[in-house]
Amino acid sequence: MVFAPDHNDFSARRCVWVNGPVIVGAGPSGLAVAACLKEQGVPFVILERADCIASLWQRRTYNRLKLHLPKQFCQLPKLPFPVDFPEYPSKKQFIDYLESYAQHFEINPQFNECVQSAKYDETCGLWRVKTCSTKGAVARGAASEVEYICRWLVVATGENAECVVPDIEGLNEFGGKMLHACDYKSGEGFKGKRVLVVGCGNSGMEVSLDLCNHNSFPSMVVRSSVHVLPREIFGKSTFETAVFLMKLLPLWLVDKLLLILAWLVLGNTESYGLKRPSTGPMQQKNTQGKTPVLDIGALEKIKSGDIKVVPGIKRFSHDRVELVDGENLYVDSVILATGYRSNVPSWLQESDFFTKNGFPKQPFPNGWKGKAGLYAVGFTRRGLSGASVDAMRIANDIGQVWKEETKPTKRFTACHRRCISQF
Ligand SMILES: Cc1cc2nc3c(=O)[nH]c(=O)nc-3n(C[C@H](O)[C@H](O)[C@H](O)COP(=O)(O)OP(=O)(O)OC[C@H]3O[C@@H](n4cnc5c(N)ncnc54)[C@H](O)[C@@H]3O)c2cc1C
Ligand SMILES: NC(=O)c1ccc[n+]([C@@H]2O[C@H](COP(=O)([O-])OP(=O)(O)OC[C@H]3O[C@@H](n4cnc5c(N)ncnc54)[C@H](OP(=O)(O)O)[C@@H]3O)[C@@H](O)[C@H]2O)c1
Repeated sequence: MVFAPDHNDFSARRCVWVNGPVIVGAGPSGLAVAACLKEQGVPFVILERADCIASLWQRRTYNRLKLHLPKQFCQLPKLPFPVDFPEYPSKKQFIDYLESYAQHFEINPQFNECVQSAKYDETCGLWRVKTCSTKGAVARGAASEVEYICRWLVVATGENAECVVPDIEGLNEFGGKMLHACDYKSGEGFKGKRVLVVGCGNSGMEVSLDLCNHNSFPSMVVRSSVHVLPREIFGKSTFETAVFLMKLLPLWLVDKLLLILAWLVLGNTESYGLKRPSTGPMQQKNTQGKTPVLDIGALEKIKSGDIKVVPGIKRFSHDRVELVDGENLYVDSVILATGYRSNVPSWLQESDFFTKNGFPKQPFPNGWKGKAGLYAVGFTRRGLSGASVDAMRIANDIGQVWKEETKPTKRFTACHRRCISQF
């Protein structure tokens, strides 16, 4: 079979046949699929735009970050966390684990290759995945674009691939320091500063707490409502309790119980400006994908007034922000803890399986497999445990076909082709 790149860029693009699937993204999800495929004996290629595995964790998270779910819900398939890991591993421990995971399964992604487009070619029944080098090759004058051709495509680019910067009036006029939470490392550089933290999800709460601990003066914007739950209720993980209750009781009742327990532990959060949504926390997670905040200390700082809760923003100007209640707040810096989004629609040319927002149309547990060899891992809004479930399903599914087709009695054309897959 001959694969001809588009005529006008023939000289610039290398064309590579991949024996087995192409996995896009070397975060925990991509690594989990790779490890499970190894076990199935299926070769693969992983394409990663960054220069390291788990770039979200290594490059785009703050220093004080810890996993906020107990470790048993965060380990990847086939290799548990080391036994001496604490209940809530730190960011460093988690990264060390992922590095040793990749090493253990001999997973070697192709780094600095950003997937620009992926399209199913009906004529040959294969995926054409085009990448662009994010560094190195261009500087050396080497071909910067590669086209991978494969039968299976595994999307593992994550729910948090790009940061969301809101369109707020006057944002560009603000003269102080402004950054997204993905670029925030610690409150070190903000000592004594008045900092506006926009957003009250887990990032907004933890960044505000960190700022307090570094003697700055955070105000946190809460424009709508938020469910704050304690990370633990009477010594037991709230998440674990919720998972247990959901096996026994209907969701609405689980939510009621969680809210009663949260009230017993935290008191009435509404009296501190944190209005609760009308939908319960687990129901909201299931229907809107919105994660409740698992409190690890920010609420105490809100109660003590060290973190000031303020309403939505009307507009920014040079040195201040005008809030919707008319108050003018003078601030030195702004941190946008305004969340993340999937980037799948920007590169995957497909509209049956993914929505315009870059999430599978089918909800959990059916959103992992599309048509024509397309798979998605890590888009169930169920964190690392959801990604592990997807990964095992995908590898089993591909593994079955692979084994069938590589039975010694059958003629197997793929083995004769030039391939760069790992195995
Ligand atoms: C601050 C923060 C804390 C979190 N804490 C937890 C937690 O405690 N527990 C939990 O379960 N979940 C947590 N999450 C959710 C998080 O999404 C998962 O932990 C995990 O990172 C998801 O893994 P992933 O591989 O699906 O996505 P990611 O980790 O985002 O990895 C995707 C990879 O794909 C690469 N990529 C993206 N686009 C392209 C492209 N076009 N071409 C090539 N490569 C591409 C990215 O560079 C990245 O390396 C947290 C998220 C954030 C932002
Ligand atoms: N320790 C941990 O494990 C940890 C830490 C951080 C993050 N995370 C995870 O990472 C993911 C992302 O969390 P996140 O907190 O970064 O994002 P998020 O949960 O999407 O929260 C974004 C916040 O920004 C607000 N916002 C957006 N646009 C705004 C605007 N124009 N004005 C005012 N507020 C605005 C949102 O308010 P509305 O609700 O009104 O839209 C929301 O409060 C989640 O899954 C989270 O659980 C985990």
